[in-house]
Amino acid sequence: MYITTPIYYVTDAPHIGHAYTTVIGDALARFYRLAGQETWYLTGTDEHGLKVARAAAEAGLSPQELVDDISQRYVRVWESLRISNDDFIRTTEERHRIGAKAFLQALYDNGDVYLAPYEGLYCVSCEDYYKEEDLLEGGLCPIHHRPVEHFSEDNYFFRLSKYSERLLAHIEANPEFVYPSTRRNEVIGFINQGLDDLSISRAQLEWGIPIPWDESQVTYVWVEALMNYATAVGYGYDQAQFDRRWPPTHLVGKDILRFHAVIWPAMLMAAGLELPRRVAAHGWLLVGGEKMSKTSLNQIAPDDLLGTFGVDGLRYHLLRDLSFASDGSFSWEGMVERYNADLANDFGNLVNRILNMVEQYRDGTVPARTGAEPVDVGLKNAAGEAVEALAGFADLGFNDALLGVWRLFGAANAYVEETAPWKIAKDPEQGQRLDEVLNGLLEALRVGAILISPVMPEAAAKLWDQLALPGAPDEPPYTETAVFGTFPELTVNRGAPLFPRIEAE
Ligand code: ME8
Ligand code: MG
Repeated sequence: MYITTPIYYVTDAPHIGHAYTTVIGDALARFYRLAGQETWYLTGTDEHGLKVARAAAEAGLSPQELVDDISQRYVRVWESLRISNDDFIRTTEERHRIGAKAFLQALYDNGDVYLAPYEGLYCVSCEDYYKEEDLLEGGLCPIHHRPVEHFSEDNYFFRLSKYSERLLAHIEANPEFVYPSTRRNEVIGFINQGLDDLSISRAQLEWGIPIPWDESQVTYVWVEALMNYATAVGYGYDQAQFDRRWPPTHLVGKDILRFHAVIWPAMLMAAGLELPRRVAAHGWLLVGGEKMSKTSLNQIAPDDLLGTFGVDGLRYHLLRDLSFASDGSFSWEGMVERYNADLANDFGNLVNRILNMVEQYRDGTVPARTGAEPVDVGLKNAAGEAVEALAGFADLGFNDALLGVWRLFGAANAYVEETAPWKIAKDPEQGQRLDEVLNGLLEALRVGAILISPVMPEAAAKLWDQLALPGAPDEPPYTETAVFGTFPELTVNRGAPLFPRIEAE
């Protein structure tokens, strides 16, 4: 599995909109690794183009100084969110320059590029042309609500129009290619309106990759940026690596769906490359009803939330409270509520309670069960269902999958109430029964630690430690390790609570 995020513009400091896509990709990558599949997870930064050149000038920096600074911020924020990317591509890297030139040359050699005059209305924030009728009143960009600019120059064009039929045929034949289906219909509708050829170069810009056969022009930043998915895995310089990783699964926000589901696949067809497995476009994270973005000045940085919710609290919120296909609103209150209900209560308290009882009644050590059948089949079944629920990650159904995993914690909480170990503990004749009950609960925690690991890597590792288990919760394949059996005879250690309650102000 080769999973990608968009490469983010270095004109914008990382906010939780970027974190949303990157956390989704991370959960997916960790899920596939946990399933035992070879996985490669790529993210990075988009560092060329007019928008970056202007932002640098405004900040009184050279473009290189600006991109070095902001790309490092992205690297650091992904570290702080425990993103497990295998690579980080910067489009100013030499490997990208080499690969992009080879890709452009392939388009050219295929007869799909020609020179022609171009005139159009350009939004620098989008790095994209607009037709007059698509603008808002007053000639404003429909996404950024900013004035567009009139551009006129000779550009190289890519014969995008030539690929309409093949694109439609591919989308029809592969219902999973554009995901979810609402986005798929949108893409089909867009292609059916008719595709224009695409300008792929700029004459009046220097901050970019020169067109290989005409150094007086640089590559249009979007075309160059899309190529990162190929150049990062060796296109144009390491064929063996490319063959091993390709094709990718692209995760994007719905704002950039057309670039990924129309332009990019056409470019791949022209270059003779296999199309992506899937282009999955999620909805927007809204703040006060608007897309969180630099232009709306409503950004929230991950750092604003980590102090209160922790890495796992933020990751859990993004995956549990938003549904991939739809827009979702961010709210502090909603986040506190979810944290307290699911993490502090259902999960954190359960862990604390069980470990507390094991220490209190059994000095931390419960013998392994000897019988073949678990003491309580209900708990075993709940664990089996939670394991099945996790498979929903493959279809990007994170919220439902997590709901399914949390049913195991619900079942374990109910089991504690039902069996009331504090009563059994008073009866010396029920010593074996108490062992069995506690063993079943510890086993439920062991399975739970494995299943939460793609989303909450820190809590999973801490719980694994508290349970004194050898190895790590994320050792594959979970379909074997998360089978409910008997908990081994180990001395557990109750540490600090995993998710202390947040008191509302
Ligand atoms: O478009 N809600 O970069 P970008 C959800 N460089 N997702 C959001 C979001 C929000 N409010 N804000 C940002 C670019 N995102 C190009 C991409 S790829 C070859 C080139 C996420 O920095 C979402 O994934 O504007 C969106 O598509 C992406 O960030 C846009 O990042
Ligand atoms: Mg953007």
